[in-house]
Amino acid sequence: MADKDVLILGIESSCDETACSVVKNGRVMLSNVIASQADFHEKYGGVVPELASRMHVDAVYPTIKEALSVANVSLDDIDAIAVTYGPGLVGALLVGLSAAKGLAYSANKPLVGVNHMHGHIAANYLCHPNLEPPFLCLSVSGGHSEIVRVDDYSSMTILGCTRDDAAGEAIDKIARVIGLGYPGGPKMDKAGRNGNVDAYKFSSTHMKDSLDFSFSGIKTSALNQLNEMKMRGIEINIADFAASYQHHIANELVRNTIKAVKNTGIKTVCLAGGVSANSFLRALIDEEAAKNKFKVYYPDLKLCTDNAAMIACAGYYEYVRGVRHGLDLNAVPSLSL
Ligand code: KG4
Ligand code: ZN
Repeated sequence: MADKDVLILGIESSCDETACSVVKNGRVMLSNVIASQADFHEKYGGVVPELASRMHVDAVYPTIKEALSVANVSLDDIDAIAVTYGPGLVGALLVGLSAAKGLAYSANKPLVGVNHMHGHIAANYLCHPNLEPPFLCLSVSGGHSEIVRVDDYSSMTILGCTRDDAAGEAIDKIARVIGLGYPGGPKMDKAGRNGNVDAYKFSSTHMKDSLDFSFSGIKTSALNQLNEMKMRGIEINIADFAASYQHHIANELVRNTIKAVKNTGIKTVCLAGGVSANSFLRALIDEEAAKNKFKVYYPDLKLCTDNAAMIACAGYYEYVRGVRHGLDLNAVPSLSL
């Protein structure tokens, strides 16, 4: 390995994935190990925070060991340890953070705290080697829906955000109600693949002169329709309902993204976060990008949802600009961008 290579070990445990990865020079993924708890939480219909923390404790060291082994490096070769310190579930965050601090202290390595949402955006750098800021990012996950102006690797501004539910939350909730289970997003995506996107209609929450979103009214309008159909004994066409609902949410997200492109004049748009895996959103933004002449990038599917490669990548850019955290770094569950 050339002397100038910088190796970052990334650790992620903000929700229900325990993940560890080694990334070279911020762009090359040498390993990406993810221990998912999704099957375990499925029976509860969502993540149980206390159980998530306990499962992270069991998984964190084997995951780190495997990430080093797959990358064929030792802890000695690592230049810095990057770890998610927020936003997320406090107990879950603390497990990854404590493991990272322990390693940093014992191996005498720099510790770099990373904002999980910076990580989601950074996933794009791993998949598109020539991508550089500035660009706009539609960042959509289970807890966030934001349009971000990414001016530089670590400097970004939120131009619009949700005033209530996140897009992922709105999808997960309706997926549960129509019996698709947890995690709802991927299941809803699959269920709607051959459905008719115009079969069902939902309320829209277009806010003039704002790039903000609101998904709670849309979710309620879906729930009301489902209740009404149930009361009247009308059978729901799951494929059509899933397709119409996801297409509608994608439409809200893309409409404001186009507005942001027009307002800022920035003609590069990245998608980030778990919902960026959604096929309805990808299809719609591709179509609108061609019409409105902007470029779209999204991460590979496995890097859309939570992983540690994105944390190592974002951590690399913090590390090279000199960011170092002390061992007193705490978890910040509601850390903002
Ligand atoms: O980014 P992420 O893994 O975790 C958070 O930081 O929240 O995002 C999880 C969210 C969940 O709401 C999940 O249902 C959604 O992303 N999601 C999807 C898809 N894959 C994951 N939503 C729609 N379509 C998908 N294919
Ligand atoms: Zn996430």
